[in-house]
Amino acid sequence: MSRHRALEVGPEREDLFAYLLDKLKLDGAIRYMEFGVAGGTTFRWWLDHNSDPAARFVGFDTFTGLPEDWDDMPQGTFGQQGKPPAFDDPRCSFEVGLFKDTLPAYLARHTWAGANVVHLDADLYSSTLYVLTTLWPALQKGDVLIFDDFCTLEHPTHVFRAFFDFFAAYQGPYEVIVTSRYGHRVAIKLV
Ligand SMILES: C[S@@+](CC[C@H](N)C(=O)[O-])C[C@H]1O[C@@H](n2cnc3c(N)ncnc32)[C@H](O)[C@@H]1O
Repeated sequence: MSRHRALEVGPEREDLFAYLLDKLKLDGAIRYMEFGVAGGTTFRWWLDHNSDPAARFVGFDTFTGLPEDWDDMPQGTFGQQGKPPAFDDPRCSFEVGLFKDTLPAYLARHTWAGANVVHLDADLYSSTLYVLTTLWPALQKGDVLIFDDFCTLEHPTHVFRAFFDFFAAYQGPYEVIVTSRYGHRVAIKLV
């Protein structure tokens, strides 16, 4: 890993989460949905920083790694032998499989009247755009969307392009709450 990349993805991720948690009071009865969980590092951060018994944490992933190449990173990268991470917390659950096979069924089974915090960390254009378009009818004003790998020199045509294409088509009004250095991550709120 180059020095530049280490700086870019270093402690800033948790700083951005902490800023959001504090500014938007996300330590209450939120539904946290993470698309791209892998070993569960960021999923755990949100679990550890929210103790509200009414909050829910739902992780979506194949757990067999990226379903297609992500530029120079081959299909299967981030694989966890098909198994979600183990958390001893009844508030969390995992939907194992491709988003296209799990998300519609999950949404048909679960409604949520409270605030949603959606963390998009699936790296790929196809995956990110699929989640945005499928989840959109279940989102509401005030919901927060966090985009990882938003603006990167290594992968310029993935998350940023999905974001751009989605909002060009759906035109949902939003405001940017915070970005990390170089725009590597961005968090928005629907308004
Ligand atoms: C960068 S990793 C997630 C990292 C994680 N948030 C962390 O804290 O380390 C990206 C994950 O997205 C998952 N993924 C990408 N596209 C997917 C899709 N269409 N369906 C299910 N999982 C997908 C991959 O399996 C991979 O585990």
